[in-house]
Amino acid sequence: MKFWISFLIFFLAIQFIVVECKSNITSNPKDEIIAPTNIKEILKRSCYDCHSNNSIIPWYGNVAPISWYVRSHINDGRKVLNFSTFNTLPKDKQQKKYEKIEESIVIRMPLSTYLWIHSDAKLSDEDKKILKEWSKEEQKNIVLKSN
Ligand code: HEC
Repeated sequence: MKFWISFLIFFLAIQFIVVECKSNITSNPKDEIIAPTNIKEILKRSCYDCHSNNSIIPWYGNVAPISWYVRSHINDGRKVLNFSTFNTLPKDKQQKKYEKIEESIVIRMPLSTYLWIHSDAKLSDEDKKILKEWSKEEQKNIVLKSN
């Protein structure tokens, strides 16, 4: 009994430690990544929760300690790659990001812990193929355009 009371007090106390993370940041639609509709659909379904200004933070994203984990993933994800502001990056940076996208979808994105709950975000082999071809193509296009 004593254990559970201590646990409850601990649990309530940690709720005051909040990791800041906004779910909806207003951004200019013009700054969003330009991509064909089928690509956008995949990105929105599988990546936008951590790599855009319009993350959907689930209820457990408000309950510590899980919230620390969920919110810091969103913050870190946005920091390295934000599809809502992708178009504001200089072309050489965009090219690097396309390269990273090509690598990441094969190995580790979306994060496996995210997929435990969001199984619909899992990339099918077909999705992977489509994303890979698209990101490869974009790397080439950017070089051509900037020459
Ligand atoms: C649950 C959150 C989450 C989801 C969903 C997610 N990512 Fe990430 N992603 C991260 C985090 C956190 C990082 C940074 C830390 C790291 O590299 O592991 C990251 C890093 C990356 C990077 C590396 C960027 C760089 O410049 O180093 C790429 C590329 C990327 N993600 C692409 C994707 C793509 C494409 C999808 C969808 C198929 C996706 N991510 C889905 C959280 C996520």
